[in-house]
Amino acid sequence: MLTASFGMPDRQPDSPTLIHLRADDVSVLLHLHDTRMPEIVHWGRDLGPLTADLAASLALAAIPLIGENSVDEPVLLTLPIDQRDGYTGRPGVVGSRQGNDWSPVFSTTSIRLDGAEVEGWQESGAGEIVVLGRDAEAGLEMSLTVELTPSGLLRSRAELTNTAENDYQLDGLTLALPVPASATELLDLGGRWGRERVPQRTAFNQGIHLREGRKGRTGADAATVLHAGTPGFGFADGEIWSVHTGWSGNHVHYAESTFTGLRVIGGGELLLPGEIQLGPGQSYCTPWLFANYGRGLDSVARRFHRYLRSRPQHVDTDRPVTLNVWEAVYFDHDLDRLLDLAERAAKLGVERCVLDDGWFGSRRDDTRGLGDWTVSQQVWPDGLHPLVDRVRDLGMQFGLWFEPEMVNPDSDLAREHPEWIMSARGQWPVLSRHQQVLNLSIPECYDAILAAILAILDEYPISYLKWDHNRDLIEAGNQLTGGAAAVHAQTATLYRMLRAIKRAHPGLEIESCSSGGARVDLGVLDHTDRVWVSDCIDPLERQSMMRWTSQLLPPELLGSHIASGRSHTTGRTHDLNFRAATAVFGHLGIEWDLADASDRALAELSAWIDFYRSHRDLLLGGDLVRLDNPGEGAMVHGVVAGDRQRAIFAYVLTSNPAADPGPAIRLRDLSPQTRYLVEPMLVGSAPSGLVAPRWWGGRAVDAPAPINPAHPYPQPQEAVCYPGAVFTGSQLTEAGVMPPRLHPDQAVLFRLTAQPGS
Ligand code: DGJ
Repeated sequence: MLTASFGMPDRQPDSPTLIHLRADDVSVLLHLHDTRMPEIVHWGRDLGPLTADLAASLALAAIPLIGENSVDEPVLLTLPIDQRDGYTGRPGVVGSRQGNDWSPVFSTTSIRLDGAEVEGWQESGAGEIVVLGRDAEAGLEMSLTVELTPSGLLRSRAELTNTAENDYQLDGLTLALPVPASATELLDLGGRWGRERVPQRTAFNQGIHLREGRKGRTGADAATVLHAGTPGFGFADGEIWSVHTGWSGNHVHYAESTFTGLRVIGGGELLLPGEIQLGPGQSYCTPWLFANYGRGLDSVARRFHRYLRSRPQHVDTDRPVTLNVWEAVYFDHDLDRLLDLAERAAKLGVERCVLDDGWFGSRRDDTRGLGDWTVSQQVWPDGLHPLVDRVRDLGMQFGLWFEPEMVNPDSDLAREHPEWIMSARGQWPVLSRHQQVLNLSIPECYDAILAAILAILDEYPISYLKWDHNRDLIEAGNQLTGGAAAVHAQTATLYRMLRAIKRAHPGLEIESCSSGGARVDLGVLDHTDRVWVSDCIDPLERQSMMRWTSQLLPPELLGSHIASGRSHTTGRTHDLNFRAATAVFGHLGIEWDLADASDRALAELSAWIDFYRSHRDLLLGGDLVRLDNPGEGAMVHGVVAGDRQRAIFAYVLTSNPAADPGPAIRLRDLSPQTRYLVEPMLVGSAPSGLVAPRWWGGRAVDAPAPINPAHPYPQPQEAVCYPGAVFTGSQLTEAGVMPPRLHPDQAVLFRLTAQPGS
């Protein structure tokens, strides 16, 4: 029986509870109502310190007018959005109790700021607000957490609890934040296998821009970060409000502009039919929605990076140079060949060696054996010991590939437990890469897979797991419950398994790989330490993929390899110089059959590894800079040390311009008064098309001293060095320097070093 109350809603902020959080040039002002969830009055640039009066005026100033031919009250946007005020866009909670209780409105029962109960006016720096709300009539409670981190990132999540005696079916719970009318353009990412994270722009028009991920993994085509910004926003300029859903299963990102003039951006998990049935007392918690305000895309990216770098578990910049054997040997696991590869790698300065797919069960190609996680007797009669021992004797760490969520139908596991395969009806889903998905949410299945992984980790000294996931989840149901959708459970169980492994093996690093870069999100990054950006290692493609993956993740988390000259995925051929100059801006690895490399190539490669090792604190620890429009066919990006004393920039030519090089390139984010020595770094050898501009100075007569004289490979003789020149930061930013002439698909790095006394 419905008992409607027709009283006026509490719209006026009379003695309101207002909380103002401020951190890193960002403010968020929340208006906490008695009879509804909070309203975000302001989220954007720092407002400076406020008083209760000023905050109350702002809360009043944000109340919209009553629309024409609209409801007779102002439409307030709450977090999550409710429908009571007449918002006819996408609501926050979508669910019902057999058709009822589908428009819950929560009265506030508690407000805590950093753990302490509060009311009235509050102002703080970074902090966490937890609001509890109750809809007694609908039998629902909500706990909303809104946290402004010290890096100025705003993250929120909501937990819904069913307090009634019968089930509540939840079909969706998304969070969204208001953005101003000046945000007229949208930018997010798309892509596919081998071409992950391609930027796409569109106008922020009336209606909804909805990016749904229904792949049961993040997806190579994921929106990743959805930005709404002022016209023409770029890397350096423009006001930007953006969101990222930190979840590795089905998910949404959206931007909505309604006829009432309201604009929001939001996201959350995408729930499949019937996935969340809340029994009495049960709860569902959303993933974190990360909201990031900045001026220019670089400032948005850096805020994500600062947040990630502040986590206690974050890796340091000492990322070991990694050899991954996949493109070197694929499934050809010949011990002698692998030992030879390891020896060659160690001589070059490689610090970690990863054995990829093919070491277990009957897995001699990708049609068989997946799921049988015991070392193949046929290929490895003495186990992995001979390889692991040698790798470690050579001073390198050992890493191993797994794909725990998957199974080939042609495997002992699938034959023994066909009921563990995810399926929505009496037939298995369509195959993809000859494989099916294991239902980890079946406890026996979870236990068996976890035990198999732990047994390998117990037997061998393994420092690193490459955790792969090579297909989408299609019709992913639980056979044991009649095919009920189970993607939510699968994603949550993945995180549980990763946690259990890390608990059992503290210090173990895990890479998130999914057919390349199809699992890149802040959910999986809570449990992993690196992502494999893409199966495409072609440096031309990588220039773009690294650029846009770093919109979310800092370079130390991006697996970035130097592969053979001819790309296995595009067929293009590139000089080592370009391959290496591209790869050193991430966590460097080699994925190349070194037995095929010439001595000259090995010498150059060793010089690049030395360069990376001696500069990785900066390459993997600095602030990201990407230039807008540095010239036709050119890309310029770099890293600047936090203290602005050092920087490395790359000038990259990706196509043949119609005009000669120029005009001068204007670098930025340097210290204006500081005098920098700007040195071209011709590591290994000079690009064949190089014509140096005047300011580089005369060509040095002596070849540069080897960076590491102990190297077994001769240093390239033809390497030349140019002294470069000294400029102030403001000269470099306001006037700039002329780029060199290069052939397309070539790059030059510049090192900037603050001069003593400047
Ligand atoms: C896909 C990954 O992205 C590759 O690097 C490799 O590990 C293969 N899977 C192995 O099957």
